[in-house]
Amino acid sequence: MRIMIIGSSGQLGSELLHRFSDAEVIPVDRTEAAVTLDIRDSARTAEVLDSEKPDMVINTAAFHNLLACEQQPAEAFAVNATATGNLAKLCAKRGIRLVHFSTNYVFGGTVFHDTTRDAAPDGPVPPRPYREDDPPSPINVLGASKLAGEYLIQAYHPEVQIIRTAALYGVAACQSRGGDRNFVENILHLAKTKRPMRLIQDIVTTPTHAADLAVQVRKIVDLGGPGVYHATCEGWCTWYEFGCAVLEECGISPASRPEAVSARQFQTPVRRPGYSVLENSRVKSLGIADMPSWRESLRRYLRLAGHLVG
Ligand SMILES: NC(=O)c1ccc[n+]([C@@H]2O[C@H](COP(=O)([O-])OP(=O)(O)OC[C@H]3O[C@@H](n4cnc5c(N)ncnc54)[C@H](OP(=O)(O)O)[C@@H]3O)[C@@H](O)[C@H]2O)c1
Repeated sequence: MRIMIIGSSGQLGSELLHRFSDAEVIPVDRTEAAVTLDIRDSARTAEVLDSEKPDMVINTAAFHNLLACEQQPAEAFAVNATATGNLAKLCAKRGIRLVHFSTNYVFGGTVFHDTTRDAAPDGPVPPRPYREDDPPSPINVLGASKLAGEYLIQAYHPEVQIIRTAALYGVAACQSRGGDRNFVENILHLAKTKRPMRLIQDIVTTPTHAADLAVQVRKIVDLGGPGVYHATCEGWCTWYEFGCAVLEECGISPASRPEAVSARQFQTPVRRPGYSVLENSRVKSLGIADMPSWRESLRRYLRLAGHLVG
């Protein structure tokens, strides 16, 4: 089996290289891999598929820096929708399997409740995480462009597997942030350099370690059928809670505690849903769910990155 991994230097792509190392893997990237490709170049995409002849393409390439998407919407749609749709069309024509990644930001914070549950004794029923078949409603350019990509891919390649995930961090730097430190490393850096930290306390997400996601992706690829899957770590927290957990796990003193602020205080031009937690419903119903809790996953990351011993 020949598997082409597009975006192989990225956070997720680099983990997928390990996870599929028993196959004949073809790493593809814009500049770093032996095979270079910019998926916006349709002719080159066709040429690479024809010369490399993969049985499956796993596409992690995306234009997904939130602020850059707001500032350059045409570019976001060019990569996340048009180029991705074109890749799907080319793969379908050649009988190549396709796996693609999308985001929790296809949801815009509309709150659904689990009507089978009674109200909590001390307050209202909390929102329930989004399932794969909940109606999307993006509120920023990233979410809209990724959703457009989902629709185009499914139109061109009905057999595609689309895996939505959230708040990824990994040992490889996130290319969309220009290779900067990920959230965890940033917190540790700020603590080490004794710089003040302000973290958002009213946006709930599920931090997801790319290495653990890669394990789940492998199961979906091996055992799942076509369609949309949610795959994040289990549970949820605010960015403030995530930052505090990083410090606690590393035994960093409470003197370095971040300041909790609201999203509004951050004054960014990007709209983010206050709630965009995904339920891994489909992998659970198939009996192939393999995501740890976000806290356990964080500990694994900290060990892998050398911040925790043992
Ligand atoms: N990071 C998150 O928090 C997050 C959350 C939800 C969903 N996702 C989705 O998960 C997937 C993987 O994310 P990630 O964090 O691993 O991304 P990443 O670290 O930014 O890596 C993306 C990879 O794609 C490559 N790439 C970008 N544009 C390309 C193009 N036009 N043609 C070919 N390659 C291109 C990048 O190469 P260069 O080095 O050349 O840029 C990089 O190797 C994406 O689909 C993303 O939307 C991510």
